[in-house]
Amino acid sequence: MRLRRCAMVLLEPRETAAFRFEALLDGGDGRVRELGWVALAPHLEQPVPISAQAQAWLGTLSPSTWTTLAPDAPERAMARELLAAGLLVEEDATGEAAARDARLRGVHWHPLAAVMHAFSRWDGVDAVRNMQDSETETAGQMRQTLGEPPREAPQLAMAGPRLALPEVDGNAFDALLARRVTCRNFDTDRPVPLATFAQLLQRTFGSRSRFKVGEDLVFLKKNVPSGGGLHPIEAYLVVQNVEGIAPGLYHYRGDSHELERMQTEAAVDRDFVMQMVGQQHWFADAHVLVVLAPRFERTFWKYRQHAKSYRVVAMEAGHLSQTLYLAATDAGLGAFITGAINEKHIERALQLDTIAEGVLAVCGFGWRAGQMTTTELDPAGVIWQPAAV
Ligand SMILES: Cc1cc2nc3c(=O)[nH]c(=O)nc-3n(C[C@H](O)[C@H](O)[C@H](O)COP(=O)(O)O)c2cc1C
Repeated sequence: MRLRRCAMVLLEPRETAAFRFEALLDGGDGRVRELGWVALAPHLEQPVPISAQAQAWLGTLSPSTWTTLAPDAPERAMARELLAAGLLVEEDATGEAAARDARLRGVHWHPLAAVMHAFSRWDGVDAVRNMQDSETETAGQMRQTLGEPPREAPQLAMAGPRLALPEVDGNAFDALLARRVTCRNFDTDRPVPLATFAQLLQRTFGSRSRFKVGEDLVFLKKNVPSGGGLHPIEAYLVVQNVEGIAPGLYHYRGDSHELERMQTEAAVDRDFVMQMVGQQHWFADAHVLVVLAPRFERTFWKYRQHAKSYRVVAMEAGHLSQTLYLAATDAGLGAFITGAINEKHIERALQLDTIAEGVLAVCGFGWRAGQMTTTELDPAGVIWQPAAV
């Protein structure tokens, strides 16, 4: 038997709370705390419980060169367990874990980023219910439940005298910025015109020009900055209410300003969208939802095993989102971004190669409703006139 350790694995000592009937009979609340180690290997979907003995042995096996295990080696039973779990790979193995391990080796993730990304994805999470259960749904509840927050602006111990800066007259750009308010109320009766939809996509995700180096290295110039100019983030759209475009799942091609209809089995209905946005019904009515889905391998092709590359891609999602907000606001529409998303649900629908691609956020835009049902943060009353008293 020839084997090697999987490419990446981090070990975490974890305390879990479990319910035990016996603990209830003993007079407690039934909850017992269990301690153990889990192996976090990004090519596997789940943490793998691992014994101290298996950990120690795993640490002696190279992830790059093959180790031959003699037929009578005492570690054989442990090897079989770790192979079944996917933490070890056998030479010439054809299973899914082995294939994903091989893929991971080719994508050049930094190991900490790979683990962080793999194990922070949600599936089937109801973010609204979680806020209700944790009593953090309203600002008042948050204060009550979470206690005193860090201040809204820091009081720096090192700060010297303050220097007042001049107030500069605002212009049209300031007015645009002031109208940018995260939209949580959409008017489902009114479709977004095709020209507006096209303009928003072009401004945010479109390419202004291209620059070719040699045969196959092409840089696109866009309205947003991108680490290394590589523009790894793709825009997948759930179109719900746009003039002349059938509702469904699309991919926007930034290089050619075209929509590609995704050939998916998934029914792109209300339930699908609600799952995308973690049951945040206030976003599910948006005329268009945009999945920000990086092709990590594009950025990692240059920044290999780089400690900053995942952070760079995440920041780019913010640039795209802000540009979309401003483009939508300029067009008289509202926009949003949410990080409370069920990435795995979206990955399945888009059939993403989850080692090389992923989902970082969902944005969206559309006409604002005439009435605010879900709260928006507009203390100055720029969008929503303060109610008359
Ligand atoms: C990365 C990111 C994630 C966010 N996720 C959510 C979210 O899950 N749900 C939500 O209702 N708003 C979300 N927001 C919007 C914020 O709540 C909003 O920006 C904040 O309340 C300030 O309001 P404003 O955008 O109108 O200035 C998110 C904003 C950012 C930048």
